Amino acid sequence: MALVTSKELMEAAAKEPVYAVGAFNAVNLETAQAIFTAAEEARSPLIIQFTQTSLGYTEVEGWVSVTEELIGSILSLARRASVPVAVHLDHGRSEEVAARFMDLGFSSVMIDGSLDEKGKAPRSAEENLAVTKAVVEKAHAKGISVEGEIGLLGQVGEEIPITPELEEKLSDPTKTAKLLDETAGPGYPGWPAGLTRPDEAAQFVEQTGLDLLAVGIGTKHGVYKGKPFIAHGLLQLLREALPVPLVMHGGTGVPDKDVTQGVQEGIRKINIDTQMRIAFYSAINRVMGEMNALHNLADITGETRKYDIRKVLAPAREAVKEQVINRMKVFGCAGRAF
Ligand code: G3H
Ligand code: ZN
Repeated sequence: MALVTSKELMEAAAKEPVYAVGAFNAVNLETAQAIFTAAEEARSPLIIQFTQTSLGYTEVEGWVSVTEELIGSILSLARRASVPVAVHLDHGRSEEVAARFMDLGFSSVMIDGSLDEKGKAPRSAEENLAVTKAVVEKAHAKGISVEGEIGLLGQVGEEIPITPELEEKLSDPTKTAKLLDETAGPGYPGWPAGLTRPDEAAQFVEQTGLDLLAVGIGTKHGVYKGKPFIAHGLLQLLREALPVPLVMHGGTGVPDKDVTQGVQEGIRKINIDTQMRIAFYSAINRVMGEMNALHNLADITGETRKYDIRKVLAPAREAVKEQVINRMKVFGCAGRAF
């Protein structure tokens, strides 16, 4: 199966019975290997992604950079996979970074134009529009798909403050439409920050020509403090208003029933990162406990302690693979390789 674009995967996912394609962040060879193995085992189409902030791990002052080598391995694995795979830049924050990964061979990029290049200060709507249009123009000339973002998706640690009254309104499309009307003034007074407005999003998609849109529907990155609220009424209005597939960021911790309902309401790509990190951590914790017990025993029996990094990383790799397969089954993409 060749390397494909996200757009090709989205078109296949929109055919009945609809599904969402899992998009999983790889940070090193073990996580990449786990993600590809999961897709092969689950016979699932795959989006494997590398987020711009991971450059802080693959190219560090004073260390030999391994970015191109890791990306080269991921692209090589994608080309020889027996399932369709898109290799995607996640949360790219500048035209230069997006161009770099296009030149490396990525088949899909996200330009996260809602934040500045450092991912700190919000960009203005005009700046987001300009940088997104520039990336779309360059990417489409190369046959590469582009995901964009409008508004500020929930960042790590920030739940969107939603009252029970707002939850009730945002869960029903008719009540959400009324709320959109009531908050239509300059600056959208009373509209919860972090939630995407269909009118704004439709204009953004039309002006940029992007292929997928990350939407703010109540999710956020990282671990949720409470139970996440997914604005299903809003999601239904977004699907009606937008001619492009919708992307759920912050997939970790979203209850399976909200995921499957979201898929029926137009979510076609679901990003997962933290869930794999938790699996990796937990497996290492477990194995290190076992290793320490063996070392204590060796100290008592006088045997020499044994150290083997591979015996720590292999179970972590396996744990990540299991979580990826679990998500592919819930997203409905398991068994849908074409
Ligand atoms: O872009 C990556 C995802 O949005 C990660 O979200 O870490 O909450 O699974 P997550
Ligand atoms: Zn994200």
